[in-house]
Amino acid sequence: MIHTLETMGVGDVKNVAVVGASGAVGEVMTKLLEERGFPVGSIKFLASERSAGKTATFRGERFQIEPLNDDSFAGIDIVLSSTPASISRHFSPIAARAGAVVVDNSSAFRMDPDVPLVVPEVNPEAIAEHKGIIANPNCSTIQMVVALKPIHDQFKIKRVIVSTYQSVSGAGQKGVYELKSRLEAALAGRSAPAPVKFPHPIEGNCIPQIDDFAAEGYTKEEWKMINETRKIMGDDSIEVCPTCVRVPVPASHSESIWIETEKPISPRAARDLWTRAPGVAVIDDPADKRYPLAADAEHRDEVFVGRIRADLNNPRALLFWCVGDNLRKGAALNAVQIAEELLKLAPAKV
Ligand SMILES: NC(=O)c1ccc[n+]([C@@H]2O[C@H](COP(=O)([O-])OP(=O)(O)OC[C@H]3O[C@@H](n4cnc5c(N)ncnc54)[C@H](OP(=O)(O)O)[C@@H]3O)[C@@H](O)[C@H]2O)c1
Repeated sequence: MIHTLETMGVGDVKNVAVVGASGAVGEVMTKLLEERGFPVGSIKFLASERSAGKTATFRGERFQIEPLNDDSFAGIDIVLSSTPASISRHFSPIAARAGAVVVDNSSAFRMDPDVPLVVPEVNPEAIAEHKGIIANPNCSTIQMVVALKPIHDQFKIKRVIVSTYQSVSGAGQKGVYELKSRLEAALAGRSAPAPVKFPHPIEGNCIPQIDDFAAEGYTKEEWKMINETRKIMGDDSIEVCPTCVRVPVPASHSESIWIETEKPISPRAARDLWTRAPGVAVIDDPADKRYPLAADAEHRDEVFVGRIRADLNNPRALLFWCVGDNLRKGAALNAVQIAEELLKLAPAKV
């Protein structure tokens, strides 16, 4: 039998493993477990052999980051995993078979019909259906669906046209390093090392390619936005037309979004819904030059919306600007929130 959180008591502390602890998402997950007072009994930090000798700090204590292997999960209740998909594909099922519930940040299981794909503000009910693995969606999808959900509930969204402006931290520690090192080289008058993480120089540039190209001229990142949005919203009729762009911004993704709804919609109605929606904050005062900015969203939990305005040619459409910290709500925070929801599901019995 899979030992799940449903078989544990609500008041219990949990044995937690952070997999990919040396990575951009792993570091933020560790910070959030502490900040949010997650009931951690024991904790271990895992990454590749490359991280041998590195440490992670939790509640003032330093822990060695251990090399991940098939035996890493004995006695672990919850795994928060953020490794490349190929690594998750191997290790997350092993962790689930060992009795843990895995919240997996990679793309490995997101479209698996047996794996819930969850954003707690949108489809928390899906968590109860897990069979040991719960997938955390793609970062650009998470912030978009948090904003779309309250509109969809009232007006039914038919179509979404979205252009993203995605930060380099979306490509992990190496993405951040590539922007920084190339900028430093440019400022020092040195020739920059060749791009590795990005297909072109990222400094002074906007690159309309995130991940590899796939079917119909869309990139894999764009396909993630199309397919994951439908799965999370539970509505395969929503048409999503994305263009994903990498920009030389250190943190937070921005998105320009156009939506078309079944019922006529006004900016005021949308603003009212967003003002009351969980996880959403409205910053929309153009006269005072106030709207969501990537730099302001960094280290913040909310998904910010602003520049809310009508489509001048279509009473069933409107446009807005949406910004979120990709490492927090786009990844680590969403994963920790899923783990928190798991605790709520647990009956008050062991
Ligand atoms: N960055 C984002 O905004 C974001 C948002 C949503 C989802 N995600 C997903 O989250 C995952 C991690 O992303 P990230 O941005 O944190 O990447 P990252 O900074 O490159 O970190 C990757 C982590 O995976 C570990 N890892 C790599 N190969 C491993 C192996 N063979 N065995 C064990 N651990 C291994 C790395 O350990 P070493 O340091 O030892 O190599 C590191 O801890 C990816 O699947 C990504 O698609 C990222």
